[in-house]
Amino acid sequence: GSTLKAAAESDSRYFGTALTGGDLGVGNEMSVAKAQFDMLTPANEMKWDTVEPSNGSYNFGPGDQLVQFAQANGMRVRGHNLVWQNQLPGWVSGLPQSQVRSAMESHITTEATHYRGKVYAWDVVNEPLNGDGSLVPDVFYQAMGSGYLADALRTAHAADPGAKLYLNDYGIEGENAKSNALYSIAQSLLAQGVPLGGIGFESHFIVGQIPADMQANLQRFANLGLDVAVTELDDRTQTPASSSALQQQAADYATVVRDCLAVSRCVGVSQWGVDDAHSWIPGTFPGYGAATMWDGNDQPKPAYTSALAAL
Ligand code: XIL
Repeated sequence: GSTLKAAAESDSRYFGTALTGGDLGVGNEMSVAKAQFDMLTPANEMKWDTVEPSNGSYNFGPGDQLVQFAQANGMRVRGHNLVWQNQLPGWVSGLPQSQVRSAMESHITTEATHYRGKVYAWDVVNEPLNGDGSLVPDVFYQAMGSGYLADALRTAHAADPGAKLYLNDYGIEGENAKSNALYSIAQSLLAQGVPLGGIGFESHFIVGQIPADMQANLQRFANLGLDVAVTELDDRTQTPASSSALQQQAADYATVVRDCLAVSRCVGVSQWGVDDAHSWIPGTFPGYGAATMWDGNDQPKPAYTSALAAL
């Protein structure tokens, strides 16, 4: 194919990107987005702090704008996300423990009902795990224990039975303590009949550090009967990026694409953002950047050529 999405679709997969509402006004970036991607993840606009900034008061405008953009441009939508300890408004963490479950269930029900029929998948719980495989002791865990994962998934399924329901995390791309713990959790949820449909592997990589066992790791989750997806791919390096780093990055992107394609239940790959000018990386990892397939002027980098060739 001549674009990422066409090549992915020829193998019944998708190639996605994350966008913010602000990105929609950037012409060059949107030309790339419309041409190349067939799945859209709202980068911030469906998170709790935007959607329900105070208890029971909902704001779907920013998310709706991105859904409309997606629908107008032939993209499906990955809903991101319903429950997360970050970008969580203070009123939730300030609730008495006895009120956290009903607040979580109301939030999930209201948001998933609003977007019912419009999202392909939901990241129902985002980043539930610590690096050692324990659950993050956030307000949800403190109030409900590990059962909050099953409760969140069941609540989302009741509101939108057509959406694939995911747990999404970073640092789980290879086999390690964190992915082993998630594997056990997924097994246990499925054994209880919880409507878990997929695992999202964020894939925020550093150039030259793609786990060698990523394909095998994706496959073991797929073997549980789950979809798997690369949900937030980027591959950062120190800036300014050297030409050798950009060559290694090209190899890295091709490796990740091949790892997904080798697993029949790997449904698609999404990059986190379109271009290096609008990527979240420089703001979060000072000194790092150049993490996407398009440079700051929306010119395709070696990683684009290699990703396309790998599809
Ligand atoms: C990031 C956004 O891109 C930023 O704009 C925001 O300031 C912080 O969150 N893992 C996730 C995403 O699941 O929601 C994060 O998105 C990146 C890390």
